[in-house]
Amino acid sequence: MAPRIVVTRRLPQPALDLLAGAGDVWVSQHDRPLDRDELASAIAGADAVVTLLHDRVDHGFLDAAGPQLKVVANVAVGYDNVDVPALTARGVRFTNTPGVLTDATADIAFSLVLMVTRRLAEGERLLRSRTPWSFNLFFMLGTGIQGKTLGIVGLGQIGAATARRARAFGMAVVYSGRRRADEALERELGARYVTFDELLATADVVSLHCPLSAETRHLIDADRLRQMKPSAFLINTTRGPVVDEAALAEALRTGVIAGAGLDVFEREPMVHEALLPLDNVVLVPHLGSATVETRTAMGVLAVRNALAVVRGDAPPTPVN
Ligand code: DGY
Repeated sequence: MAPRIVVTRRLPQPALDLLAGAGDVWVSQHDRPLDRDELASAIAGADAVVTLLHDRVDHGFLDAAGPQLKVVANVAVGYDNVDVPALTARGVRFTNTPGVLTDATADIAFSLVLMVTRRLAEGERLLRSRTPWSFNLFFMLGTGIQGKTLGIVGLGQIGAATARRARAFGMAVVYSGRRRADEALERELGARYVTFDELLATADVVSLHCPLSAETRHLIDADRLRQMKPSAFLINTTRGPVVDEAALAEALRTGVIAGAGLDVFEREPMVHEALLPLDNVVLVPHLGSATVETRTAMGVLAVRNALAVVRGDAPPTPVN
């Protein structure tokens, strides 16, 4: 029997092209996540499901899909939406899309560094509000980053790519994480391994690249923010709940830290109300991987993963 392949969101055309003739394919035409009931009825009887980051893949999902389910292929590198041990326990393969979004996401992380340190969004808002201005030696001064230190929390592929950009801009790099990187990577990046405490106390810009897990939820809270320099900036392009948004808003409002750049939020698509009036935070709507090239590559890789498992082959980028 032809395999049933379910895709929970619209996909770029080259990814859909790969699915042509691959089986009984159903693709959601929505650009929003399916609600619980829609998802349950869409995935019933599926052999493969291609999911996105706001789809919850848990025991309920597995029950709704049924025992024939072979693979869940997430169109994202992060998979805090997925209960991987539950899938493994039921013999369901799980795949993600590492590698293909590394540069796009690092570009956004570094764009946020420049935007917040040089007050670019604030300047844009000023012009668009028709506020009178004139060039003078004290007008809208930002903070230079050359010679400053970038602290990378989690030196994975995206963290390393962000560090490369920082080096090109004349920054020193320190990093923290569960494991020390190999010597070759440290040498290439000129990166020094430090404790998380030391990183917070010394970095001029702290950039978060660790995955969201029980250990990293609210990793940056009011206490951690107080450990940072009052002149420091926080960048988050990983997952919103790594930062306690209410504590961050308060720290930004009261000058505990100088500024922040956020691509991700605790309760997406909502943004904490207390952040919205603040000029020292740059807010962008989860654009890390949002280029045509990257999203196409992510969709294609996810579909390749799904098809490989359905056909009995090894998926290119397995997690379990
Ligand atoms: C991911 O892949 O985890 C990103 O957040 C999606 O851009």
